[in-house]
Amino acid sequence: MKKTNRRQFIAGMTATLALAKSNLSAQTSGADKKEKPAEAPKKPLPFVPGSWTLVVLPDIQGYSTFFPGLTNLQTQWVADNKDKYNIAYVLQNGDVTNHNIELEWDRASKAFSKLDGVVPYAIVPGNHDYCQGNAKDRTTLMNNNFSPDRFAKWPTFGGVMDEGRIENSYHLFKAGGQDWLILALEWGPRDKTLKWADQILTKYHKHKAIIMTHAYLYSDSTRYDWEAKGYSQGASPHGYGTEGGVNDGEEMWNKLIKKHANTFMTINGHVLNDGLGFLESKNDFGNSVYQMLVNFQMRPLGGTSWLRLIEFLPDKKTIQVKTYCPLKEEYETGPESQFVIQTQL
Ligand SMILES: [Fe+2]
Repeated sequence: MKKTNRRQFIAGMTATLALAKSNLSAQTSGADKKEKPAEAPKKPLPFVPGSWTLVVLPDIQGYSTFFPGLTNLQTQWVADNKDKYNIAYVLQNGDVTNHNIELEWDRASKAFSKLDGVVPYAIVPGNHDYCQGNAKDRTTLMNNNFSPDRFAKWPTFGGVMDEGRIENSYHLFKAGGQDWLILALEWGPRDKTLKWADQILTKYHKHKAIIMTHAYLYSDSTRYDWEAKGYSQGASPHGYGTEGGVNDGEEMWNKLIKKHANTFMTINGHVLNDGLGFLESKNDFGNSVYQMLVNFQMRPLGGTSWLRLIEFLPDKKTIQVKTYCPLKEEYETGPESQFVIQTQL
């Protein structure tokens, strides 16, 4: 992220960093006064009892090709900590594989089998999950391993757009006294996909919606916007020539997300650079939509198993966003990796 963009990101987060800052202040106030507060390490925010958690496994393609043990480590960590952190759902935001080959799908499938019947999950295809990993068309081996049949027995599974295909699916669950909808959409959703998503958002208008797709927010903390920014935002969905057309983040926002009162959060991966971004926008009903880019694939070992944890506190006003690495057994606490969203659920 460029310096100016980083400043914009941090400025945008100011209102939501109150708790994180108070945490830092609490740590520094009792510290040796000779230490500069800015250099004091920030502690991970504690898990608040009564919270429930979403876990994001961003772009795991590097693990599927080179380090399958790291996806296994991630899913095993989720299974082991399901009760401790009250994990309601796991979200995998695309690029399960690098080359859309059976070996890579099989590795990912085996890792996710640790969650089957333990913690439900939603999964979407990224650009690398199509064709020969280049998204020239929308052929994929995804359904050989993650067919809707695998999900159908879960009480939280809502359904799919196309029978027998998992590329576009939705999930329904209750957590923290709130009904939730997860809308899991294909790489660069086509217009017909957005129309289907529109129907689902309307049908479940009393559910707060979390929309997951592979490419949406860029690492400058603005939405992908081909018309306004073109190639200046690297790896735009419009740059792949995907058969059938695509919609980027700004198009998704205008055609779908801003039009519904119940849209609450978006989560995507795909973007390189530092792979992190955050943007709060108001939908047409004045409700905040928290949009989050999270992708660790540029880190050592294809991501080192880093996870994003999103903890919804029992006060129904506070969301703690954290970044944790099961391999290193440590949290990352910089301003883009640990922050607090103040909202009203
Ligand atoms: Fe990608």
